Amino acid sequence: MITHPATLDVERTAGLDPEVLRRDFPVLHQEVHGKPLVYLDNAATTQKPSSVIDALVRYYEHDNANVHRGIHELSQRATNDYEDARTVVQEFLGAAESEEIIYTRGTTESINLVTASWGRANVGPGDEVLISAMEHHSNIVPWQILCEEKGARLKIVPINDDGEFLLDEYERLLSDHTRIVAVNHVSNALGSVNPVREIVDLAHERGALVLIDGAQAVAHMKVDVRSLECDFYAFSSHKIFGPTGIGILYGKRSVLETMPPCESGGDMIKHVTFEKTIYNDLPYKFEAGTPNIADAIGLGAALRYVNNVGLEGIGAYEEDLLAYATERLAAFEGVRLIGTAKHKASVLSFNLDSIHPHDLGTVLDREGIAVRAGHHCAQPVMDRFGVTATVRASFAFYNTRAEVDRLVETLHKAREIFA
Ligand code: ALA
Repeated sequence: MITHPATLDVERTAGLDPEVLRRDFPVLHQEVHGKPLVYLDNAATTQKPSSVIDALVRYYEHDNANVHRGIHELSQRATNDYEDARTVVQEFLGAAESEEIIYTRGTTESINLVTASWGRANVGPGDEVLISAMEHHSNIVPWQILCEEKGARLKIVPINDDGEFLLDEYERLLSDHTRIVAVNHVSNALGSVNPVREIVDLAHERGALVLIDGAQAVAHMKVDVRSLECDFYAFSSHKIFGPTGIGILYGKRSVLETMPPCESGGDMIKHVTFEKTIYNDLPYKFEAGTPNIADAIGLGAALRYVNNVGLEGIGAYEEDLLAYATERLAAFEGVRLIGTAKHKASVLSFNLDSIHPHDLGTVLDREGIAVRAGHHCAQPVMDRFGVTATVRASFAFYNTRAEVDRLVETLHKAREIFA
């Protein structure tokens, strides 16, 4: 349970005024079912600032062309902007080189790239893959398929009743057969922030690699892949105020160099004959076909926006907001909070009495409040807590205490309706 007082620490959040920042997000200024929209579904997808929308429009209105192919002006511009966005991502993650940044469709495709390329080449019968009990389906199923195909074993690191990763159990499960550990940085269903630095150190001591699913982390805290020393880090643009359909796989050059291509076709080659193909250098070896140019540029704009707001202020502001929401819900009769880890980010999952989460979600929607209700693509987490679903409110820096108050008021209404 978060213990710090629910007071807004003005010093730490200096410069971050949600009311001012909200003006950058056109979609927030509307009524839903006649009520002002309260958007609390940021773990599913975040809203887009005008600078991202403008970058997409500008690209299609002025620069649209294919990249890495044409010698004409538009193609040069498109290539420059596309590669410039890669450098923005590199700096955002603290990666050593832009060649370590691979564009994918999102976190799911990033993880599938690793299982299909590194996994197929490096995991064999008797090997072990470790994931945690709080993974999202995208960080379970690709490993399950790999292990089934290769005769390897998928081992699950348990979590406690607060939804915390158990480091002792993890250490016990690691073995000389462990080839890779894949864990989320922040749980999408519980909000737990995992001790990824310790997870990486312990895995490396046993000679195993580590992939971190950062989908729910990057919008809330500063990530530095070099100080984490992780081998892979994945995230999706749309969860950090960028467009859908684009995401990132960071990989250490030393690891990426050893990996075979995953998809094949144009752009991932240097030279093709019917006898033999020479593959392209990093990162293009993993980017077959015409890429998602506009959305990569949109992602660059989103990260620039986040850099301007400042992740330190975002983290501090959201921590206070989550503490406030947690205190209000913890004091609400009939609420069961699911996920009460000491270190949490952005997510508040709960159930109210025996009201079905979908019914509660519908009542909230009628009041203009958008939350996610369901298993959050993390069914094993639901099983761990003995529920089939929860209601999940998930926050961004443009959310306010007044919005939390509206959530709480509407829960009172729901209780009356379902009493
Ligand atoms: N991973 C997304 C969520 O948690 C879809 O809602």
